[in-house]
Amino acid sequence: MYSSESINAKRRRKACAALLIMEPMESRHPLDPLIAAADRALRALFAPAHASRPVPGNPPETPASAAPTGAENAAAHTPALAENDRRESAALMRVNHAGEVAAQALYHGQALVSRSTTTRDLLLKAAREEADHLAWCETRLKELGSRPSLLNPLWYLGSFAIGALAAATGDRTSLGFVVETEKQVEGHLDEHLARLPTDDTRSRAILNVMRTDEIGHGAAAKMAGASELPAPVRVLMRHAARVMTTAAYWI
Ligand SMILES: [Fe+2]
Ligand SMILES: [Fe+2]
Repeated sequence: MYSSESINAKRRRKACAALLIMEPMESRHPLDPLIAAADRALRALFAPAHASRPVPGNPPETPASAAPTGAENAAAHTPALAENDRRESAALMRVNHAGEVAAQALYHGQALVSRSTTTRDLLLKAAREEADHLAWCETRLKELGSRPSLLNPLWYLGSFAIGALAAATGDRTSLGFVVETEKQVEGHLDEHLARLPTDDTRSRAILNVMRTDEIGHGAAAKMAGASELPAPVRVLMRHAARVMTTAAYWI
């Protein structure tokens, strides 16, 4: 006799197989290490994570270079999470990691096509901070025993093309694209801060600093002369972001 939980788990596995996707890394499938290695190699190519600032949540007196990493760090600085909470935190941080891959790609695509040096410098400065966010999310994912989205190369390439396209219409529109993107990211982070398990103070600290940075990116673009995007474009951006965040939660 199967419990309703195991029947549900079987149904879920079947649904995932039908969509030719694997379940999140908790599947413990024998191919998981291989897929994770391929994913790491692709991310090293498309969206390397370089932290210039220590991961938020470390003790202030700990210098970045001396900060412990991995599970040791999580154990030292966060209370142990219940299994359900760990899985939920991991899924949310995977979404945030995918978002940072996309953010870097947007800025790189925009910087490549931007007309003025001032705009390019502003975009590349923001991209460097996005690389910090990417590294922090990656560290946290490891601490949570999880891995990034398998679709990261797709997010990077798609976002790079969108960024270049937005910048091709002119610097003011490109900056308007930054303002709208960062506004939507702020809303998304607010949603995740509300959904994160209460005990996951480490992920919360990371998201709070990211949120402050994203607000700064939007404000800088506004100051630099951003024009407001038409409403249909803003709606389209919202839908595209929803597709990415929903897919990255699972894959
Ligand atoms: Fe970011
Ligand atoms: Fe940002």
